[in-house]
Amino acid sequence: MPGTSRTTAGATVSSLLDAIEPLGRDGATGGYRRPVFSAAELELREWFIAEAERRGLGVDVDRNGVIWAWWGAPMDGALVTGSHLDSVPGGGAFDGPLGVASALTAIDRMRERGVTPSRSLAVVVFPEEEGSRFGVACLGSRLLTGLLDPDRARNLTDRDGTTLAEAYAAAGMDPAHLGADPAALARIGQFVELHVEQGRGLIDLGKPVAIGSSILGHGRWKIVVSGQGNHAGTTLMVDRADPVVAAADIVGAISELARQIDDARATVGRFEPVPGGTNVIASRVDLWIDVRHPDDTVTRSLVQTIAREAAVRAERHGCTAELLEESWSPTVGFDPALGRRLADLVPGAPVLRSGAGHDAGILAASVPSAMLFVRNPSGISHSPEEYVERADADDSADVLADVLAGLL
Ligand code: GLV
Ligand code: MN
Ligand code: MN
Repeated sequence: MPGTSRTTAGATVSSLLDAIEPLGRDGATGGYRRPVFSAAELELREWFIAEAERRGLGVDVDRNGVIWAWWGAPMDGALVTGSHLDSVPGGGAFDGPLGVASALTAIDRMRERGVTPSRSLAVVVFPEEEGSRFGVACLGSRLLTGLLDPDRARNLTDRDGTTLAEAYAAAGMDPAHLGADPAALARIGQFVELHVEQGRGLIDLGKPVAIGSSILGHGRWKIVVSGQGNHAGTTLMVDRADPVVAAADIVGAISELARQIDDARATVGRFEPVPGGTNVIASRVDLWIDVRHPDDTVTRSLVQTIAREAAVRAERHGCTAELLEESWSPTVGFDPALGRRLADLVPGAPVLRSGAGHDAGILAASVPSAMLFVRNPSGISHSPEEYVERADADDSADVLADVLAGLL
């Protein structure tokens, strides 16, 4: 019920984050491994549901596994906020969970202030935002909005060969129901996602919070480099078609090509020789590239150049290279009118574009969407060194409460 206050006094964003701090954390590196529907991520989803229910929010899980926690009855045109709880391998504590914890705490703050909403507000948790398990980033929001074909989604596999369909079923959801959900989408009148900043923008500006303007277009491609598997001791160097050597050459070329284009970024973060043995010349290398640029035509053209250069470099080593697209998100600008409302509600906040992808960017194609970014003193993300000061984390709930109360 709007306005109903439950026993959440004393909850702060940092205390909520403290409660989940051990989940999926690698004690040796301090990095998080919370792939979607892993034991750690499922526990986080349960934690979120318990925190929502503690606040008297009504919880439902839609056909794509997005969790919705309602302040007020579910309705079309609601104000929606939230983020994700999955992580990249070796990620930080804040990428995703900060937005979820801030959303819950913002409801506490609004209730303490006596805000009586004129429409319902929902906090959502999207599954597989990072695409770190099944390869497609923002998988939950892509399914919901119809941007991802459910048959393709069901057949995606993780590194162990588990299909997405199997992972949904193991998590207690029927994968037959995956796909575009116009009824769920209609419930989103406006979407606001609060997120840790993943670069240095706010440190350089000396400000705690920014408003997002846009998200850089980005995509993921797999390059398969094929050669001849053989014996490390009996195969002379001149007789080899070693795909690891070809792939190393290709990685160097990718970096060289991206450096020649202003504002382009190209990353090889995953590189897998097959079968992978110290005394085995691999028969194949699978590597994945992430390419980004504000101008989608530049991104596309860079990827084509990479494909051509990969083929040339592979041939030099007696190998072949094939490039396959796994996901693509065009550059997206957030809703200008909503952005102006946020600028009024967070006076003095600078406006920053995001080099990182977010579910808000996927939703922006369908509903007015906006983002808030919270200062990260390390300027580092997708790493254990990602950081948010406790005071900034706690203040983020007040900023989000100001924004949500202003929009309600
Ligand atoms: C997600 O954080 C991404 O930008 O890949
Ligand atoms: Mn994120
Ligand atoms: Mn991320």
